[in-house]
Amino acid sequence: MQLRLNGLTEFQATRRVTLLAAKIRTVKNYLIIGGSSGIGQAIVAQLAAEGHQVFATYNQHAGIINNFPNVHYHHCNVLDDATLNFDYLPDTLDGLAYCPGSIQLKPFGRIKPEDFVADYQLQVVGAIKVIQAVTSKLKNAGNGSIVLFSTVAAQTGLVFHTQVAASKSALEGFSKALAAEFAPHIRCNCIAPSLTNTPLAASLINTEAKLAVNAQRHPLKRIGEAADIAQAACFLLTDKSSWITGQTLTIDGGLSTLRV
Ligand SMILES: NC(=O)c1ccc[n+]([C@@H]2O[C@H](COP(=O)([O-])OP(=O)(O)OC[C@H]3O[C@@H](n4cnc5c(N)ncnc54)[C@H](OP(=O)(O)O)[C@@H]3O)[C@@H](O)[C@H]2O)c1
Repeated sequence: MQLRLNGLTEFQATRRVTLLAAKIRTVKNYLIIGGSSGIGQAIVAQLAAEGHQVFATYNQHAGIINNFPNVHYHHCNVLDDATLNFDYLPDTLDGLAYCPGSIQLKPFGRIKPEDFVADYQLQVVGAIKVIQAVTSKLKNAGNGSIVLFSTVAAQTGLVFHTQVAASKSALEGFSKALAAEFAPHIRCNCIAPSLTNTPLAASLINTEAKLAVNAQRHPLKRIGEAADIAQAACFLLTDKSSWITGQTLTIDGGLSTLRV
């Protein structure tokens, strides 16, 4: 027999209490893997400025300038299991952004099979390991949110992008399936940026000529800035997007959809 409280099933009633408790907590806890550079660093800054507790990780760049008392940096190399220890996190985690990634653009014939595997390790297996390590903490939040980073090249065929497209497309499929499995407790979405001004993209925009060509390719006539992408990530991480899950949000200055 199913117990009903005010017309709600026991599950619905418990869920309402959990969501109410999450709403009352105005300061939330976020984990940003790869918060020491580019988009991840911009996410850290935005969440910290909103007053949240931000736990961020670095891999090679330890010396992050951090003016926020509510930001805590820890070392993490997702390719080294010994560093995948998140004991420092509180029991409740409201959101996780997984930012490590690579952009290796080469003709298909020059890419070794092991290069595809290395990208898969960094962009997919790394995300899986981190998510598995913090799932229970995300679940405790009631409406926890995961944000993963794909690329515009997963949905739009671009020359020399086979290596990055392979692992990012896998990540998009993974994200959707995980969103189904984790509903209604944890949301999961992807962001698929086009070329964005970060250290990762430096070799593609390190001359005026390259920058101009790349800006021209985008209908909005510029490449992305880390803050453009971070704003969308913060929206997906926080309760402002509490009814959005299983989506890939393409942020690309119109590249994939407009012909102008
Ligand atoms: N920038 C673009 O044009 C662009 C376009 C499409 C998609 N994306 C995607 O957006 C995401 C963020 O890119 P971004 O441009 O902000 O990159 P980024 O500036 O290179 O930052 C990457 C972050 O990930 C960390 N990281 C790298 N390898 C790691 C590892 N093995 N273990 C743990 N952390 C690691 C880095 O730490 P350290 O710096 O401390 O080593 C850094 O904090 C990536 O997934 C990327 O594929 C970017």
